[in-house]
Order: sequence, then structure tokens, then C-alpha cells
Amino acid sequence: MSSLLTMNQLTNEEIFMILEDAEQYRLGKGWKPSNMLFVSNLFFEPSTRTRFSFEVAEKKLGLEVLNFSSEHSSVQKGETLYDTIKTLESIGAHAVVIRHQNDHFFEDLIGKVSIPIINAGDGCGHHPTQSLLDLLTIKQEFGGFKDLTVSIHGDIRHSRVARSNAEVLIRLGANVLFSGPSEWHDPLNIHGKYVDVDEAIEKSDVVMLLRIQHERHDQKTSVENYLAQYGLTKEREKQMKNHAIIMHPAPVNRGVEIESDLIECGRSRIFKQMENGVFARMAVLKRAFQQSKQKQEVIKHV
Ligand code: CP
Repeated sequence: MSSLLTMNQLTNEEIFMILEDAEQYRLGKGWKPSNMLFVSNLFFEPSTRTRFSFEVAEKKLGLEVLNFSSEHSSVQKGETLYDTIKTLESIGAHAVVIRHQNDHFFEDLIGKVSIPIINAGDGCGHHPTQSLLDLLTIKQEFGGFKDLTVSIHGDIRHSRVARSNAEVLIRLGANVLFSGPSEWHDPLNIHGKYVDVDEAIEKSDVVMLLRIQHERHDQKTSVENYLAQYGLTKEREKQMKNHAIIMHPAPVNRGVEIESDLIECGRSRIFKQMENGVFARMAVLKRAFQQSKQKQEVIKHV
């Protein structure tokens, strides 16, 4: 499948291949298309990192980028997501990148559109390209994933990043610990272990923090005392293992889930993650176009 919708669809071998391609792109090497290819970025939810790193990745690959704004498109006149994609496909787009507020928005599209769809985040569901850039960051630091302890802190229930990352890290041999308020424990019950914040921080090689996803809460959530109860304070940072790193998918709410001064401290890889996002997305686009081309060639010869 040339689309990338969830991490579950990728074998471990494919994941390592994408990470290797991303490293090649980081070194300024790697595949680029020889013909003109159009890609459209459909963002129905706000984004800074994913949107712009996809655009930079596309431009570095020499792709023609069709940017989209739902406010200035016929979505405002009732056009469905399916019709928007079919329109783009009809006028010559070769792939679409989609961020959408609905969990599993792609389920209704599978088998109905022939161009690759890359999921740039669906509601509380999945965020596969974030997972890949996180894996790339961890691999650069530790060389692999086996037997690492990664703790994921905060609003697990509403985080597509937590779900995508926990599942794949466990599959790749890491131990995953969760920590955060009990009302935000994940009802899907991924096989991580919930522990107290201090225990998680002391045991971890990677401390992965999450923003509180207020936009997905039914009621207004108070952040008073959140840092002291659940967040990464300077006191807690001192309890981390010497080699341990701090990660966060961002945007960061400074002083809520992490003390502001720690965002750019020596252990933080938060801006490194963003840098890696461009290379991971270049590798994902390469996969989409190469698999799509193979599919077309098979169709031509049938
Ligand atoms: N991490 C992430 O997905 O950030 P954006 O919402 O800014 O794209």
C-alpha cells in the first residue's frame, strides 16, 4: 500500500527502510523524482510543524506543492473530503497529505481513491509521520530501540502521538511506561505500564512529554498544579539518568507539562525532532511515489 495511514501497516523492515532513507536525506543524498509530480497538503486542523515540514520536504524533493485552505475552498459550500480528493486526483495531483479532526477519516476513502494518502494526524487516532521522526531521533541517539525505556507523560487518552509511538516502540522491543492523570489513561489499554511520574522519569532513557489536548476535552481543564503534579520540573530533570533525553512532539505549553528553561537544555531533543521531521517526511513521500509507480506498472502489464 503506497498510502501511509497508521504505523500498524508498516512492517519493522519497512520502518527501518524509511529511517535509513531519512538518514540519507539528512546527508543530502537520496532519491528525487525525475518527472513533475504534484502533491496537495489538506490541513483541516491547525498545524505549524507538520504542515511546514511536509512543505519543505516536498520542495526539497522537487515536487510541485498545491497548498489548500479549507476556508477558501469549496469545503465551505458542502464539498465532502472524498470529493475534494477526487477533484485533486482528477486535475493531476499525485498524492495528498491530510490532517483531519475526525479519528480514522481515511477509512471511508480506502479503495475509492487511487492516489496515495499520507495521514498527517487524525483526531485522537494516529500520527504516523510524527512516530517516524520520533523513531529517527531515538535511533540517532541510541542506535536502536531494544530494551530502551521510554516514558510517555500526560494526556495519553487524547494523544494520537502517544498511541502511535507506544505501539511501535513496544513492537521494536522498547519498554513503555505511561504517567499522568488517571482520567487520561488510554481506554485502549496499550500494553504499557502506568507508573508514578517520579518513577517513570528515574527509569527512562527517553522522557516523552505531551501537551494537554484541551481541544479534545469535553470540559475545560485546569492546568493549576499540573507541572508540580505531573510535569517535568528542574528538580525532576536532575533525577533523570545521565544519558537520558527529553522529547515532546510540540507545540509545547511552556510551564505546564515542562518547565520553560528545560525546552532548550542539553538533554532536550525537541528542536532536533522538528529538524528530523523534514527528513522522515521526505522518506515517506519517496515510499509513496515509488510504491505508487510500482502499482501503476503492474496495472499497465495486466
Ligand atoms: N507535532 C505536531 O504535529 O505539531 P503541529 O500540530 O504543529 O503540526
